[in-house]
Amino acid sequence: MSGLINALGSKALLAPLAGITNLPFRLIARPFGCGLCFTEMISANGLIRESDKTIHYLATCPGDRPLGVQLFGSDPAIVAQAAVRVAHLQPDCIDINMGCPVRKVIKTGSGAALMKNLPLAGRIITAVVKAVAVPVTVKIRAGWSPGSINAPEFARIAEDAGAAAVTVHGRTADQGFSGHADWEVIARVKQAVCIPVIGNGDIWQAKDAVRMLRETGCDAVMVGRGALGNPWIFQGIGQMLSDGETAAGPTLQQRLEIIKKHWETEADFCGSRLAERTFRKHLLWYTKGLAGSGRFRESVGKLKDHHSMLTELERYFERLHDSSL
Ligand SMILES: Cc1cc2nc3c(=O)[nH]c(=O)nc-3n(C[C@H](O)[C@H](O)[C@H](O)COP(=O)(O)O)c2cc1C
Repeated sequence: MSGLINALGSKALLAPLAGITNLPFRLIARPFGCGLCFTEMISANGLIRESDKTIHYLATCPGDRPLGVQLFGSDPAIVAQAAVRVAHLQPDCIDINMGCPVRKVIKTGSGAALMKNLPLAGRIITAVVKAVAVPVTVKIRAGWSPGSINAPEFARIAEDAGAAAVTVHGRTADQGFSGHADWEVIARVKQAVCIPVIGNGDIWQAKDAVRMLRETGCDAVMVGRGALGNPWIFQGIGQMLSDGETAAGPTLQQRLEIIKKHWETEADFCGSRLAERTFRKHLLWYTKGLAGSGRFRESVGKLKDHHSMLTELERYFERLHDSSL
C-alpha cells in the first residue's frame, strides 16, 4: 500500500459515502485528480448471499481506477469470503469499515462496534489478509467515545494483522458527524505505526487538506462531505500542494456542464426514472451557496420529471450568468 499511495497521482482520496460514492460520482471526481476512490460500504453478509442490491454496489468499469472496495462485517470467515469475491474485480485495495456508527451496523457487531472489540477487529483483518493477495486497508475512528480514544492502539493491531494502511476519521463513534474531527489523534496514529496513515475529517477546502498533511504528518488525506457538489476540490488540493496557489474553480458554464454530465451518468447507471430521485440531493449540493439557490431548490423540489428539472436548472444557470455580467 505504501507503494500504492506513492504511486497515486494525488494525495487526496475520495471517502466511501453510503448512497453517494457510486460509480457515477467516482467517474465525475476522477478527472479532477482524485487519487483513489472508494465504493460505499458493502455488507459482507449481503455479498456472500449475492443479494442484487449488494452486487449493484460493486459496479465498476475500467476507467474507475484506482479503486478501493469497502466491506463491513463482524464474522472473520464471512468477511474473508466476501473479500475473495471482491478480489476477482482486481481492486487496488479492499478496505474494512471499522468506524461506521450507524445503529443498524453496530448492532451486528461491525463498523464502529469493533472500536470496542480490538481482538475481534484483529481477527477480521488477519482473516482477510490471509484470504486475498490485494492490499487490505482499515478505516477507523478516533475511538468509541472521548473517554476511550484508542485509534493508535487499534492501528498497531491492524498493522500487526497485516493491514497495508489505515484511515483515521478524527471523530469518536459517539460523536457521529457532530463537533470537529480531532486531527491530533491522526498525528498520534502516524507516530504509532509504520504503515501509511490516511487522515480524514473536516476537509472542506483545499487549504484544509494542506494543513492536515502538515499538522499530522499523514501520508494522504481523504475527503468526504467536502466533495459533495464540489468534486473539483481535488483539483484545488492538487494545485495548492504543487504550487501553493488557490485554484479558481470552474466557471458557471463549466459547473453546469459537470452537473449535466453527472446527471447523465447517473441516469445511464440506474435508469432516468430512479435518477430523478437520486440526483435531487446532488442538485442541492451543487447549487449550495450560489445566488438565489433557495428559490431554485424550492422550485426544483416541486418538479417530478427529468425534463422539467433540467430546464429549471438551465434557466437558473442562465439567470446566474446574466446577473454576473
Ligand atoms: C452520508 C455519509 C455516508 C457515509 N458512508 C460511509 C461509508 O459507507 N463508509 C465509511 O467508511 N464511512 C462513511 N461515511 C464517513 C465518511 O467516509 C467520512 O469518514 C466522514 O464523513 C468524515 O469525513 P468528512 O469530514 O470529510 O466528511 C459516511 C459519511 C456520510 C456523511
